[in-house]
Amino acid sequence: MIQAPKGTRDILPTDSYRWQFVECKARDVFSRFGYKEIRTPVFEHTELFARGIGDETDIVQKEMYTFQDKSNRSLTLKPEGTAGVIRSCIEHNLISQNSSLNLYYITSCYRYERPQAGRYREFNQIGVETIGSNSPYTDLEVISMAALFLKELGLNDVEISINNIGCQECRPKYITLLQKYLETIKYKLCDLCKERMYKNPLRVIDCKFCNSKKFFEDAPSIIDEVCKDCENHFEKVKKGLGDLGLKYSIDSKIVRGLDYYTKTVFELILTDENNNKSVICGGGRYDNLVKELGGTEVQGVGFAFGFERLLSALESKKINITCNDNPQLFIVSIDEKSQEFTNKLAFELRKLKIRVGIDNNGKSVKSQMRLANKLSANCVIVIGDEEISSKKGKLKIMQSEDDNKEIETDLDAEKIAELFKVNNDYN
Ligand code: HAM
Repeated sequence: MIQAPKGTRDILPTDSYRWQFVECKARDVFSRFGYKEIRTPVFEHTELFARGIGDETDIVQKEMYTFQDKSNRSLTLKPEGTAGVIRSCIEHNLISQNSSLNLYYITSCYRYERPQAGRYREFNQIGVETIGSNSPYTDLEVISMAALFLKELGLNDVEISINNIGCQECRPKYITLLQKYLETIKYKLCDLCKERMYKNPLRVIDCKFCNSKKFFEDAPSIIDEVCKDCENHFEKVKKGLGDLGLKYSIDSKIVRGLDYYTKTVFELILTDENNNKSVICGGGRYDNLVKELGGTEVQGVGFAFGFERLLSALESKKINITCNDNPQLFIVSIDEKSQEFTNKLAFELRKLKIRVGIDNNGKSVKSQMRLANKLSANCVIVIGDEEISSKKGKLKIMQSEDDNKEIETDLDAEKIAELFKVNNDYN
């Protein structure tokens, strides 16, 4: 038997309604903030990610699904959503200087990582990008939108962690300072950090292993080293979060795994019942990415939620997601003749927006009743010779307290549909 590749998952019909529920909520919340959907290709030229995310990042160095196509172009399955969105906005001239372009996306992403809980090789992101604003209030709006989205999903106890990683002016000075410090503790560091302290020193202080050994307790903190402009920007973001009643903490160790960030970076973290923490959303400001990818000098801010991590959080917090796709009516046919009548009636009702279940496989009346139960149909109607000639039938209400509740109805699609519209019991 051929199985799904390692690190991928099928979304089965028993589960897809949960995905749809989260997607609907995202569209609903984001549209209230004026965001519109953008869809970009699953694969892009490899150079886009190398330039956008950064040559020295783990994603570009180790995790990309890169291949040559039949014309020898180097293409890569998108490891994240931002670079493709920016490429598309530049290509289609969507960006203007003085107004923000507000976009969201729901997309699959691909990273060659070691699969484990909450980490897949094919995963999905729900993300937003706003391009064209250098205002701290934009950072604030984006973070508050992520928090509201979670709240409306029923995930209340999220931690918002923020950091200020400075700009092209002040960060190089900090990096020099950090490298000097790392030199003094180099002998203790893991091999990867020894290598990274020259190539991508910011990532060193994010190392799980060295952090667990508390090697960076005395490391200089970037927040203390940023320039006045970055400091003022961050102060406004912090004040704004406070004013909106959003609790946050400052974590000077958040550096993020992508090179494009400047100034504000943030993560939204959930803790499960076993005290395991999961970063379900990461984002931040990127003031140079658009220019880096060939566009004008405009700034951007965005975030992305890991869809799978959101869903497992909803599951672990036992948040009830209702699914309204059970049949409102199941029509049982007693023989082939009534089947013709049933098919016609079902089609008329479906045109009138009623969810109707039928059986086309000649099952016995008993098995059709069992199927109606299995599908959690709200009502059942049995069609036989008598019903066809009298044009009347009995609508049995399945989910009622009174087991035998039946209602006589004309077998006319408009009349039946009306019953569903006026009576909530049937819906
Ligand atoms: P990221 O932190 O790399 O940021 O990914 C965002 C989220 O995607 C993570 O917080 C996590 O929930 C989820 N995620 C990442 N890798 C995996 C994986 N292998 N399996 C399952 N979930 C995963 C970005 O991608 C940025 N583009 C976010 C952004 C948008 N920044 C600005 N705009």
